[in-house]
Amino acid sequence: MVKYNTITKENINEMVLKFYSRILAEDTDVSKVFKARLGEDLTSPVWKKHTDLLTNFWSMIALQDPAYQGNPMMAHFDMGLTKEMFPIWIKLFFETIDSVYEEDQGIIFKSRAENIATNFMRNLGL
Ligand code: HEM
Repeated sequence: MVKYNTITKENINEMVLKFYSRILAEDTDVSKVFKARLGEDLTSPVWKKHTDLLTNFWSMIALQDPAYQGNPMMAHFDMGLTKEMFPIWIKLFFETIDSVYEEDQGIIFKSRAENIATNFMRNLGL
């Protein structure tokens, strides 16, 4: 597949769908959290809401798109997250980014993901 050397909301949506379809295809503790919370069907309305939300979230980060209005941290309390889940999430996310974007375009997603994951862990006391 040709990797993108520009970032658009459309290719962010493609990246987001690819990331979560991989999460659903795997049998990790991260996958279990998503499956318990949102179910196993990426085409369901519940998942569509999540993938649209995450498309807006990453578009805010990479494109300064104003659509995302949520609070990412709040969503992650009371979810039973463990310290071990974060490297799994990061690995799958980085692999997805590397499969969708050229190296230069991938940097913003990977560096922000790493920062946010570190903040989440700190705020969750992990
Ligand atoms: C241990 C790894 C993680 C797990 C298992 C996880 C799981 C989840 C789940 C299940 C939801 C949906 C909550 C719901 O609607 O009921 C969610 C929402 C979200 N996650 Fe994560 N997450 C993880 C790490 C991260 C990281 C590192 C980021 C950012 C880089 C992130 C960004 C978001 C955002 C933006 C939302 C939407 C929040 C909102 O409602 O506005 N997550 N996550």
